[in-house]
Amino acid sequence: MNVMKFKILVVLLFSIGIFSCTEKETASAKMDEQHRPQYHFTPDSMWMNDPNGMVFFEGEYHLFYQYYPDSTVWGPMHWGHAVSPDMIHWEHLPIALYPDSLGYIFSGSAVIDINNTTGFGRDGKVPMVAIFTHHSMEGEKAGVLDYQNQSIAYSLDKGRSWTKYEGNPVIKNPGIKDFRDPKVLWHEESKKWVMIFAAADRVRLYHSPDLKSWEFSSEFGAEFGGHGGVWECPDLFSMTITETGEQKWVMLVSINPGGPNGGSATQYFVGDFDGKEFKLDSGFAKEVPKGSAKWVDQGKDNYAGVTWSNIPETDGRRLFLGWMSNWQYATVVPTKKWRSAMTLPRTMDLAKDSTGYYLISKPVKEVAPLEGEVTNFSAQKFDRDSVIFQFAEPNLLKVDMEFEIPASGMIALRFLNDEGEYVDVGYAVADQQYFIDRTFAGNSDFSKEFADFHTAEADYKKESVRLLIYLDVASIELFADDGRTVMTDIFFPKKPFNTVSVLASESDVNLKFGTFTKLKPAGSGK
Ligand code: FRU
Repeated sequence: MNVMKFKILVVLLFSIGIFSCTEKETASAKMDEQHRPQYHFTPDSMWMNDPNGMVFFEGEYHLFYQYYPDSTVWGPMHWGHAVSPDMIHWEHLPIALYPDSLGYIFSGSAVIDINNTTGFGRDGKVPMVAIFTHHSMEGEKAGVLDYQNQSIAYSLDKGRSWTKYEGNPVIKNPGIKDFRDPKVLWHEESKKWVMIFAAADRVRLYHSPDLKSWEFSSEFGAEFGGHGGVWECPDLFSMTITETGEQKWVMLVSINPGGPNGGSATQYFVGDFDGKEFKLDSGFAKEVPKGSAKWVDQGKDNYAGVTWSNIPETDGRRLFLGWMSNWQYATVVPTKKWRSAMTLPRTMDLAKDSTGYYLISKPVKEVAPLEGEVTNFSAQKFDRDSVIFQFAEPNLLKVDMEFEIPASGMIALRFLNDEGEYVDVGYAVADQQYFIDRTFAGNSDFSKEFADFHTAEADYKKESVRLLIYLDVASIELFADDGRTVMTDIFFPKKPFNTVSVLASESDVNLKFGTFTKLKPAGSGK
């Protein structure tokens, strides 16, 4: 059978539902795959990195992602695609964008062109427009500088099929080696589209009436923030501080390497934006002189995260998702069929106190329906190093505990398995730092950068130590102090964790309250 006939047969089989039972089998088989997260998004198979094109449209959250369908190691980039009604239960869809004569399809975003400014809309159908970087491998190999350019494509059927614009690229590279990862937003005051993307050690901003012709507006960042590596995957959005009604603009910029615990991480800036220029808030500027940064997540495994476009005003949330890995070891982590997962979807909020502005991240409320059996702890004193909770597989758990701040030393929760492997999550009093220690968490021989102790600055005034932890087979996400300090770390234990004990180095452990909640797997779809 030739390739064309085979493709037609596959399409026919899908349309009459022959493959639907195979999909269900895949869902239960996934529960048995070692290290496969059960309520985080993973590709069915093969390589995945950054989330791309996140947009909400007609009841569906779209997640596109950097995808290489032929290997579990990074290669010619496509946009994989999945949709979900709640950001937790995902349906995998066919690949959305394939590499072409202009190059691989690198990271980018998607918008809904409600007013049909592009003219791509037809018969009343509203276009979904993807904005991405074309990365020319030939150009890179030939040693030219302008091998990354910004392009667009559109879909009139809710992202199921795509047409690339014949006028691509829409922004030509003027000769800057790293020139990528466009995020587009509609700026209501100036009634223009705005594009922000990374250009070497800064971001560039452009504006456009129609997503096709773009004019340069400004650049930002050479003088501020972390510069331990190249800038990537920016985002820009307005936020209102709930208590005061104050409105500010927040910019996210991923950086690799140069993260707070090494390798990849995402920093943020707070300021004002008039449609053309981003001006850093003068107070915030003092916190991020060149070489220092404020981090969205101080763990090792949250990179290239951006926020969803087109969330309805009635919802009003700023919803974030990151890639749960780190370029230091992403291509060699010990999973066989697929590589890497996304973080939990999170709400992002801006807050301010006497120390200045800061971001708050929390898991979205849509995770709650996964919650099962709950065990409550009332206020009590724990002996040091005592086992406080045991659970059976699958090791999916939400832990919410509030401790009195110990007089000195550190307190931690230890997640342990029958092999003696463990991850510690805790707080060090004198340093005012949260930490995750995955040094003895299982397989780590694939990279010398992996087995380590990671810390997170938390030098603000605290009444208590409040740990909200989500464990999903191969990852822990810590949202300390109501989401003010966040850490995400992955690990690869030989056996699932099944015991939690409490550790303290010097003092007693006084619990104010605690809850352990078992979580259910999300499966592959609803
Ligand atoms: C970030 C990144 C982006 C790029 C993509 C390529 O992880 O390096 O800058 O577009 O991955 O896959």
